[in-house]
Amino acid sequence: ENESTVSITVVGASGDLAKKKIFPALFALYYEDCLPKHFTIYGYARSKMTDAELRNMVSKTLTCRIDKRENCSEKMDQFLKRCFYHSGQYDSEENFSQLDKKLKKQEGGRVSNRLFYLSIPPNIFTEAVKCSSLSASSGNGWTRVIVEKPFGRDSESSAVLTKALKQYLAEDQIFRIDHYLGKELVENLSVLRFANLIFEPLWSRRYIRNVQLIFSEDFGTEGRGGYFDNYGIIRDIMQNHLLQILALFAMETPVSLDAEDIRNEKVKVLRSMRPLRLEDVVVGQYKSHSRGGVTYPSYTDDKTVPKDSLTPTFAAAALFIDNARWDGVPFLMKAGKALHNRGAEIRVQFRHVPGNLYNRNFGTDLDRATNELVIRVQPDEAIFLKINNKVPGLGMRLDRSNLNLHYAARYSKEIPDAYERLLLDAIEGERRLFIRSDELDAAWALFTPVLAELEEKKIIPESYPYGSRGPVGAHYLAARYNVRWGDLD
Ligand code: BG6
Repeated sequence: ENESTVSITVVGASGDLAKKKIFPALFALYYEDCLPKHFTIYGYARSKMTDAELRNMVSKTLTCRIDKRENCSEKMDQFLKRCFYHSGQYDSEENFSQLDKKLKKQEGGRVSNRLFYLSIPPNIFTEAVKCSSLSASSGNGWTRVIVEKPFGRDSESSAVLTKALKQYLAEDQIFRIDHYLGKELVENLSVLRFANLIFEPLWSRRYIRNVQLIFSEDFGTEGRGGYFDNYGIIRDIMQNHLLQILALFAMETPVSLDAEDIRNEKVKVLRSMRPLRLEDVVVGQYKSHSRGGVTYPSYTDDKTVPKDSLTPTFAAAALFIDNARWDGVPFLMKAGKALHNRGAEIRVQFRHVPGNLYNRNFGTDLDRATNELVIRVQPDEAIFLKINNKVPGLGMRLDRSNLNLHYAARYSKEIPDAYERLLLDAIEGERRLFIRSDELDAAWALFTPVLAELEEKKIIPESYPYGSRGPVGAHYLAARYNVRWGDLD
């Protein structure tokens, strides 16, 4: 019987992402028996390393959710035996063809399927794609390439990259990762909307006043300044992670759950959006701050960041979808580093109840009385709906309470890491959670003009103290659209 084999080559094996996410995710998949019977993992990087050294490195990266399980170390040993290392330059055809020989040997004449995960800096991307396509599987197997952002810096550079990739690969071989799409609660968005009767009828401008997409980290860019300074928070978080969530949130019902049907709807909603305008953006950059005897650095204290950098580490933006469903509803995004807490949330604020009998219970602040649906993507995953309720007792006092689906309380099984789901999907050829090239174009089209303007006009970011709630400008922006930011809770 000619069984097939799958090899997974992690190009950039000694990098941060490989260590933090890719190897641990592969191991978790192995532990859960999700990897195919005949699989091999190759680490590919420039430094010289033996297989044993790679195994040692990988074993140290095991900080995934599995490491607390029993028989973890036994499984780990089995897993490591399937891991190998190949040292080579990222632009060397010769080095890749040596890898090809090794792979062929291990495949032993079985149908060979090959997955390449390019976890390398963007400037060597195209060369690596070219070279790795030389070690594409021959015969009946498939070859797939996973690529990570940044996919360029704007529409133009992204198009150049896409063109270069398409010289060597067909669109259905390219798996563009946005790891937010692999997060449990992001995947659940479609279930929430389309498998429940009670949400979808409310899912429009008729009942929804505004939608907020909030990303917050309580640490700075320490150690990543070199990468970050060239991109900034809008490219790092908004153009991809938050926009992808928005697309899933706001798209029309897809014809089916097939990848193409879902992605068609996502593209449609992205193309219905207005490019972001400069007056609808607030940018910020964090500054040193001392608290409790500790001094937290400024963004520009990082040695790899120029002292006069104008790169935003925070941004707030108001976006609009010009279609029948969402006309006039502000979609507010907020993303920042070095803020007071860490989390990612979607908050849906509903309209006031018309002619509310209980208005007087809320005084002049009717906003306090509106329903709000909160989808907490992380940490401590939860979905809750803020409703008005009578405080038990003889009087008539109302307060807001939560109908609460708290994942940790409801589900005993751990939530897999986004990379586990995405790697498994790539191995299985499921494209639903990967970004199609027209989707990428549409996403860039929304942000490219404002990014150019911010740079041309040298807009100075508003400074905010490390560990604070970010620049006050974000509140003024929201207030212009009659929105009050919800607080991560
Ligand atoms: C990455 C960004 O895509 O996402 C990082 O480049 C950011 O700047 C990270 O820290 C956040 O991911 P997560 O899964 O930890 O929320």
